[in-house]
Amino acid sequence: MVQKTDRVTTGLTKLDALTCGGFPSKTVILISGSAGTGKTLFGLNFLVEGARRGERCCYISFSESADELMRACEGIESLRDAKRYAGKNLILQYVDIGKLTLNKFVHTLALYPDVDRLVIDNINKLLLFAETDRKYRIAMVKVINNLKKKAGCSLLLCETAAGEVDTGKGESFECDGLVNISFLDLEEKPMRTLEIHKLRYTAFDPRVVHNIVISSKGLELGDAKLI
Ligand SMILES: Nc1ncnc2c1ncn2[C@@H]1O[C@H](COP(=O)(O)OP(=O)(O)OP(=O)(O)O)[C@@H](O)[C@H]1O
Ligand SMILES: [Mg+2]
Repeated sequence: MVQKTDRVTTGLTKLDALTCGGFPSKTVILISGSAGTGKTLFGLNFLVEGARRGERCCYISFSESADELMRACEGIESLRDAKRYAGKNLILQYVDIGKLTLNKFVHTLALYPDVDRLVIDNINKLLLFAETDRKYRIAMVKVINNLKKKAGCSLLLCETAAGEVDTGKGESFECDGLVNISFLDLEEKPMRTLEIHKLRYTAFDPRVVHNIVISSKGLELGDAKLI
């Protein structure tokens, strides 16, 4: 592990400042939000930040191919470095859900090498294979416990309906942290907002609404505390 502190930088300077230096090490953080809020870019930004530090980073995607993820990075200046690290200390791996079962995924993940940063996009896909909510929750707990052992810090991305922080099937309770990204419908122009709901081992102000901007330059957390 390259990072020696008990904090893993988030990729957003202001988010690090709000969280005593970043996410606590050996934790699994849920990054939730509705469609297009920026979950994937948040995850990529987190990994590019780690790759720059020489850390071993891995993105497991159930929906976008490595080429599609690289294309998303190409469009954003601060993520363009991704191609320097891709295939070296930044692995972008597409997992074909057609060839997957719940147990197979849990077991394959258990065989993964240790990494510094890992992103799974997204945890909801496991729902497709779980016959019951109970089986989904059990698989999720196994995945989370495993990630705590093998990764410096992991992000589980989670698709939600607008206004929700998870699927209602326990993701936010099982994870060590919960960061929600959403849209705020202001009269002039809707904007993206980020709220930290939960972060174990950390003193922070919960549920303060910050604006998060995604532009061709990069991702940035605004100064303003909204509302
Ligand atoms: N180069 C760019 N400049 C400005 N905004 C961009 C750029 N690239 C992407 N975006 C914005 O980011 C959004 C997509 O972000 P992202 O794919 O991370 O969202 P997501 O929450 O993962 O979405 P999904 O629910 O589809 O998985 C786009 O809809 C667009 O608004
Ligand atoms: Mg996405």
